[in-house]
Parts: sequence; structure tokens; C-alpha cells
Amino acid sequence: MEIMYSDDKIKLFAGDVFECLKHLPKNTIQAVITSPTYWGKRNFTGDKKEFGSEKFEDYIDRNVNLFSSLLRIMKDDGSIFIIIQDSYMGSGVSRSHHNHWEHNKDISYRRYGLDSNGQGNTSSVTAKHNIIKNKSLCGIPYRIAIKLVDMGFIWRQHIIWEKPNPMPENVKDRVRQSAEYILHFTKKGNYKFNPEHIMVMGQSGKYRLDNQVWIASPEPKSGHTATFPSKIVKKLLLSVTDEDDTVFEPFLGSGTMLDLCIAYGRKFIGCDINKNFVRETVEKINTYNSLIPSQNEINKKTNNKTEYRRISTQLALLEERQKYLVNKNHLKGIHK
Ligand SMILES: C[S@@+](CC[C@H](N)C(=O)[O-])C[C@H]1O[C@@H](n2cnc3c(N)ncnc32)[C@H](O)[C@@H]1O
Repeated sequence: MEIMYSDDKIKLFAGDVFECLKHLPKNTIQAVITSPTYWGKRNFTGDKKEFGSEKFEDYIDRNVNLFSSLLRIMKDDGSIFIIIQDSYMGSGVSRSHHNHWEHNKDISYRRYGLDSNGQGNTSSVTAKHNIIKNKSLCGIPYRIAIKLVDMGFIWRQHIIWEKPNPMPENVKDRVRQSAEYILHFTKKGNYKFNPEHIMVMGQSGKYRLDNQVWIASPEPKSGHTATFPSKIVKKLLLSVTDEDDTVFEPFLGSGTMLDLCIAYGRKFIGCDINKNFVRETVEKINTYNSLIPSQNEINKKTNNKTEYRRISTQLALLEERQKYLVNKNHLKGIHK
């Protein structure tokens, strides 16, 4: 476990999330909004501690262990959102993902133990189970949710994230797997909630709480195939936190949550087992911090292509924050 970045608002760890848990402050975290690597679908590092390549039962237990531990140390009025997809037993790793790993020059994207012959149904990860038959959904989101409920935590809702353009599948006897689950858990019945951020205009012309199915396309970023859409997680973030609250993201990835926390003035703690991902995020923060420059300085930096790309991201963040500050009072008015 290595602390890769720390200031008064942001802390980033590289390493296994269970190691990271030992360093987290108690009664400080207001929200966890995250997405563990899905079971049997992807593998970013080949590290045995990485979520997704372990035995089926172990995957469920590790998730339950992680989220129950987090709920215990969070603030009493905190919330957890777990974004997770189910897997089919025996489906193996999808061809497109496999090719992605196999041909990617960066070793950290390769799925160890598989070569071209290991594609499709022969994946060592999802090939067989004593009870669950091949072709059956494993029920992963439900299994995790039910265990957490049975431990005394409160399962408030599952939002369905529907993707209009899901990953292509080679099947002919069922509908497409186009949705992911967003499980909302709290530890108490009374929890922080700002409904104005998830209000929509109803048919009566009045604002009302949104429905359960949210539609958004995935937002793949270069080097990251499993990012969650900022359009959705932004609403979750704003509805369960206020400015200066602390958010923890145990599976940092490309840092979607961090970007939003910077834009909306939340404190952030992040962790990822893939050191490269954390390193990229540190670079992003350093660029962000070095901003607020004169126009002259921006012009100078933008002559360099890489700098230009980075600065564009940071300027988008600043713009997002600006929009948020302008809309804040308006949104507050809506709920009155
Ligand atoms: C689905 S991705 C998260 C994507 C992120 N939400 C985003 O929008 O970019 C899952 C991440 O979890 C990380 N991960 C897997 N197992 C881990 C572990 N044991 N500890 C910490 N991070 C882990 C992977 O390296 C990967 O970056």
C-alpha cells in the first residue's frame, strides 16, 4: 500500500482496497460511489487480489466484506452506491475484451492464463460451477444485496442503468444484457439526501422524484474500458453529499468520481490496485493544481499536444464547477 498523493482535500492510495481500509478515517466518509471489477469479465493487473478473477463465492464474500466494513466506519447518515453487473455462468470473457487484453502492449491490460485458444466458453474463470448451470445468470447483485440486508444494513433502492448501446453479444435466445444495477445502501433510516438533484419535470408541470430506470451511454476513456457515466454518478453524488463532505472511491479506475468531486467541491479519498491508474490520476491533479494560470501561460502550454489534452480536461472541470455554482441556488429553490 502506497500513498501516492495527499493534500487537504484529496488522498490517493495504490494497492489492495482491504489494505487501504486500515488507513481510512472513522466517521468521516459521507458517501461511497463505486464499481468493483465485474466477476469473470475483466482483469487489469493479473494480481490475485484484484476483484473479478476469484472463485464465484469468494467474489460475493469479498464485496460483502468490503461494503459492510465501509458502512460500519462511515458517517451515520452516509450512503453507498454500488454499480455492478451480473455475469452468466460459463460465458467466459467476451471476445472483444480478450482481444483488447491480448493485443494491448501494456501488460497490465492482459488477462493472464489465457491466449487465443482460451477465448469464449473456455475461460478458466467462469467455466463451471457445482450448482449454477452454464447459461444461467449468477444473480451477483442480488446475492450481495441480500447478504448486506441480512447483516442489518438498509437497501433503499436499486436503480437500473440502461445502456442504449450495450456491448455486442453472440447470443440468439434471450434479450441483450443492456443494464447494470446501482444498489443504494445506508446504515440508518435517516440519511443525508438532497432530492432536488434527482428531480425531473412531471406531466403535471411540477418537479417530482425521478423513476428507477436511468438511461446513459458508457463513457470509455483512453486506456479505460470500464468507466461509469458521469451523467449518472453526478446525480448520485449531489443527492447524498454536500460541499466539503468526503467521498471514498475504492476502485478509482480513470478517476471519474475524483473529477466530479473536484468540480463540485467534495473531498476525495481514492484507491486502486493498478498503480498506473493512480499515477495517471496524480498527474491529472498536478495539472489541475498548476492551473489558474494567466492566459499567456495557457497559450504557451497548449503548443504542446499532451499538455493541450490535459488542460482541456481541466478547463472542462472548471467549467463544470462554474455551472454547478450558478445552478446551485436555482436547484435549491425547486424543492421548496
Ligand atoms: C470497473 S473499474 C472502476 C472504474 C471507475 N469507476 C471509472 O469510472 O473509471 C474497477 C477498478 O477496480 C480496480 N480494482 C480491482 N480490484 C481491486 C482491489 N482489490 N483493490 C483496489 N482496486 C481494485 C481495478 O484496477 C479497476 O481500475
